[in-house]
Amino acid sequence: MHAAKPKMTLGVNIDHIAVLREARKINDPDPVMALAICAQSGANQITIHLREDRRHIHDEDARRIIAMSPLPVNLECAIEPSIIGIVCGLRPHRATLVPEKRQEVTTEGGLDVSGNYSSILNAINELKDHEIEVSLFIDPTREAVETSERLGAQWVELHTGSYANLYAMRHSSLPHSHHAIESLKLSRQELDNKIEQAYGALVDAANYARSLGLKVAAGHGLNYHNVTPIVEIDTIEELNIGQSIIARSVFTGLATAVSDMKVLCQR
Ligand code: PXP
Repeated sequence: MHAAKPKMTLGVNIDHIAVLREARKINDPDPVMALAICAQSGANQITIHLREDRRHIHDEDARRIIAMSPLPVNLECAIEPSIIGIVCGLRPHRATLVPEKRQEVTTEGGLDVSGNYSSILNAINELKDHEIEVSLFIDPTREAVETSERLGAQWVELHTGSYANLYAMRHSSLPHSHHAIESLKLSRQELDNKIEQAYGALVDAANYARSLGLKVAAGHGLNYHNVTPIVEIDTIEELNIGQSIIARSVFTGLATAVSDMKVLCQR
């Protein structure tokens, strides 16, 4: 008999509901309304990002979401001491430390854990003093995993952006994907090899992190088309997914969008 595969949990990133609200700067749609729907539709966690420029989630959203969520809340934030102070006051279940640049559309790469060692260590210690679990959002390399373990993080979240971008280039018919392929001058076979490499890096980093006793999450750019190979990596136990779920919810409703993704997360 085969041993049961470890379960995969699903964190739904609801920032994009606040993005839509901010397009009009009114109070609709309210991300708090998503909490019960996500919980009823199979989500295991709510993820939000309190960005330094507060471009979508505001402090008051974070406070209400943490107070009202029936699911654990994973709060993504920068390592800035002023933000860490706010997060300690908010007391989410977990804080995921992410790199942040004001101009970027979304989080573009993993944390430079070696370059920011002492600031990250200070942030981790302060969060742990407030009994907040800490995860570091890192690129899938052994070096970043090992440094995260040395820093005392309990979790790492592996950045799946490279895998997802290459997958989109290979499979989507969006004009920018074709431009990217042309500018990289890659044949389809070369692109397949690059996807294999990006995927292999995720498998290796996840296995290594688990061997060091870290818990492993992954996320960024995951969608209904590219998620299955990631779910097959047994050492990853959680995915955090936002854009694709909220985008689908516009057409199907949030409950269906979450439960469709939950089905794909089943092992
Ligand atoms: N995980 C982290 C750490 C992130 O910063 C983000 C984007 O906010 C996500 C997951 C979700 O990414 P996406 O919206 O592309 O699914």
